[in-house]
Amino acid sequence: MANSGDKPAARNRESLWKDEFSIFQERERFVSRRQLIKFLTLTSLGMFVGNVWILFRSWMRRDSTFPRQEIARIGEIPVGGVKLFRYPNPKEQCLLVRTSEDNYVAYSQKCTHLSCAVYYSREDNQLICPCHNGRFSIRDGAVIQGPPTRALPHVILERKGQELIAIGMSGKLES
Ligand code: FES
Repeated sequence: MANSGDKPAARNRESLWKDEFSIFQERERFVSRRQLIKFLTLTSLGMFVGNVWILFRSWMRRDSTFPRQEIARIGEIPVGGVKLFRYPNPKEQCLLVRTSEDNYVAYSQKCTHLSCAVYYSREDNQLICPCHNGRFSIRDGAVIQGPPTRALPHVILERKGQELIAIGMSGKLES
């Protein structure tokens, strides 16, 4: 019974509140809907632009042509020796290893796990990443052990007279 007596008072309090802050429910709902539509439109637009950007980047990578670049001269490094060079652009560090009298291999130096620089261990005849002890085969860059799941990108070499020329890469470069 006490409650029924309180109801008009509560209604009065509510109407007082509404008088002081003139919020009209109709208009409030209208604004909310408009804001929601604006939010959805902007979010969709953002996602669309993001997808176009991703598509554009993958398209650019697929169609990228590799430069021909002389990276060393035959006999410049000893058997078991290493030469660092940058390919296919000045940001990408690679390493060339002379594995025997007549054989050279080259790989990206960026580990495919978290991009630490790999080095060549002559004793193990492997490419080793010091960060988490990832190991890669010197023959083809395949993962031998550790957390990396992908092989090291391989630099394709061409021999022209006394020159060793990088002509392309196989495998995905870390970004
Ligand atoms: S960064 Fe090379 S193994 Fe982790």
